[in-house]
Amino acid sequence: MGSKLIGCGSAVPKLEITNDDLSKIVDTSDEWISVRTGIRKRRVLTGEESVQGLAIDAGKKALEMAQVEPEEVDIVVLCTSTPNDLFGSGSQVSTAIGCKNAWAFDATAACSGFLVGLITATGFIKGGCAQNVLVIGADCLSRYVDWTDRGTCILFGDAAGAVLVQATAAEDDGFLGFDIHSDGQGYRHLNAKTCGGVEEVLSSTNGSLNFPPKKPAFSFIQMNGKEVFRFAVRCVPQSIEASLEEAGLTSSDINWLLLHQANWRIIEAVATRLHIPSEKIISNLANYGNTSAASIPLALDEAVRCGQVKGGDIIAASGFGAGLTWGSAIMRW
Ligand code: ACO
Repeated sequence: MGSKLIGCGSAVPKLEITNDDLSKIVDTSDEWISVRTGIRKRRVLTGEESVQGLAIDAGKKALEMAQVEPEEVDIVVLCTSTPNDLFGSGSQVSTAIGCKNAWAFDATAACSGFLVGLITATGFIKGGCAQNVLVIGADCLSRYVDWTDRGTCILFGDAAGAVLVQATAAEDDGFLGFDIHSDGQGYRHLNAKTCGGVEEVLSSTNGSLNFPPKKPAFSFIQMNGKEVFRFAVRCVPQSIEASLEEAGLTSSDINWLLLHQANWRIIEAVATRLHIPSEKIISNLANYGNTSAASIPLALDEAVRCGQVKGGDIIAASGFGAGLTWGSAIMRW
């Protein structure tokens, strides 16, 4: 049994925030942000928009391109760290798309979320448990960022992207190799912890039980940018090399390098280490910033729809981020 990507879709909020807009609320400049990150603007949810709504739009578009009816989908994986509901939004997204024969769940792995969902989908298909799996990456980190912290608020945007993964005959397999990791020690470099709630009950220091707990909340995203940068530049090339080895390929066989869109300097450094020329890089980071689990399918969707990626092209995709988590996959489009 093989598996293949046969459709993609994406959705972004209407409001666009430029670097100049940000320079009015924090001490920064278009020049600093562009030079250090490659980001020029990002989209942010407003009004009636929701990350769930974006996920539904992106999922519908992926099914449309794949020419698969919602009723034919067996599993919906919603890759998100920012669902509308603490218990997960996958079921609601699946039902809203019309996937009435599917079961759904959320996969939480921050910026590696889409890779985790993709690898999970392929596992279900290759294990004979599903024919069609809709994998949606959707996040709204704008809701968890401190808009007074210039070190983080300039980086993130909101979006959703989706792919339809379908079972194929083994000889048509389009999912050629993968590699995936996590390292809980690196958690200290990038997190958005819960505060209050049960932790406060357990950490009472005066001997009395601090009960009932307060309503828990999340702290803003905390990041040691330099450490995350070093981690990405070290681990991502190793992961892509491991996936290529599994696929029996080398970096010269890759048509497209499609990394999680976090920082152009990370993307360039990874490409250089793998000896991949810049013409083979897919990137829309300048327009959307870091959209977490959405970034890879959003960039893929744009590249497919504008004709950059063509049938038969080999793509090396890699996600990396909080957890710490990182992984890669070699796919034939
Ligand atoms: N505008 C102007 N100056 C700034 C800004 C800003 N927006 N942000 C920081 N600075 C200043 C700092 O205060 C510092 O000033 P100082 O030298 O006077 O102390 C100086 O610029 C350098 O700051 P650094 O943090 O050292 O800058 P760096 O070159 O490391 O760039 C950045 C920071 C862009 C965050 C980079 O480290 C990075 O991209 N890291 C990777 C982040 C990432 O990829 N995260 C992905 C995962 S996200 C997820 O999983 C949820």
